Amino acid sequence: MESISKIEEVRDKVSFYKTKYETVGFVPTMGYLHAGHMSLVRAAKNTCDRVVVSIFVNPSQFGPKEDFSTYPMDMEADLKMCRDAGVDVVFSPEAGDMYPRGIYDLGSGALTFVEPVAGLTDKLCGESRPGHFRGVATIVAKLLNIVTPHYLFMGQKDAQQLAVIENMVTDLNIGVKVIPCPIVREEDGLAMSSRNTYLSREDRISATVLNRSLQHADKMIKDGVASSSAIIEEMTKIISSEKNAEIDYIEIVDAASLERVETPKGDTLIALAVKFGKTRLIDNMRLVI
Ligand code: PAF
Repeated sequence: MESISKIEEVRDKVSFYKTKYETVGFVPTMGYLHAGHMSLVRAAKNTCDRVVVSIFVNPSQFGPKEDFSTYPMDMEADLKMCRDAGVDVVFSPEAGDMYPRGIYDLGSGALTFVEPVAGLTDKLCGESRPGHFRGVATIVAKLLNIVTPHYLFMGQKDAQQLAVIENMVTDLNIGVKVIPCPIVREEDGLAMSSRNTYLSREDRISATVLNRSLQHADKMIKDGVASSSAIIEEMTKIISSEKNAEIDYIEIVDAASLERVETPKGDTLIALAVKFGKTRLIDNMRLVI
């Protein structure tokens, strides 16, 4: 495995693979890798001849009050996990190379960003994280321009992020195929996330309520309940039974447009964000009804 930090070097490496007609799979990450990330790597290994993983904590997707400066990092452990999993290249660029004209916003450097339409970003996580999806779309577009993979592997846990990137790839004619990968859960059902490490022991136990509430919603739908608000009300009750849980949102939306639906029907996403102490967790369930 090669660990590369320079943009030109990773470009050369991928060009070399392509001269041999090898397919390249790409897994973008912010590091602090866990079994969820490694399931993306496995999917990439199963589909592609070569696998590139990027590790970059992207400043432009964090709000001023968010956890950019304290985001967990363990490069040594990440490199070991990638090596053990058979990754070909880990690309971990410097912020100054990824944002050569400055990082934050219009006026302080870069003049070009990728801005997903408001309809995709003014709801769900976008409501409490203004600018977040612009940061994600911009960095993923930059990484795709650098790595130029054939396949892009992304987790369904970040369902809104996945929808933003799928739309960006279509709208900007980016020559990559997006492969959505299923959520990976701990044994007790908590969706894997680098942020789980922030949870206190008590909050970690309480956080299992998220998956329980989604399972309950699934059962209600299977039992014939056709009202999104009735389902959301029940989920709210279940989550609120944990006294340290503070609900940010629970929504039932069309999986492609992310528009709220009164009746779950067709390709549906039940998505939620809940805070435990300072830690905000997201989870979701996708159903074809
Ligand atoms: O999901 C993540 O870890 C990040 O949002 C991503 C896609 C690597 C962009 O920084």
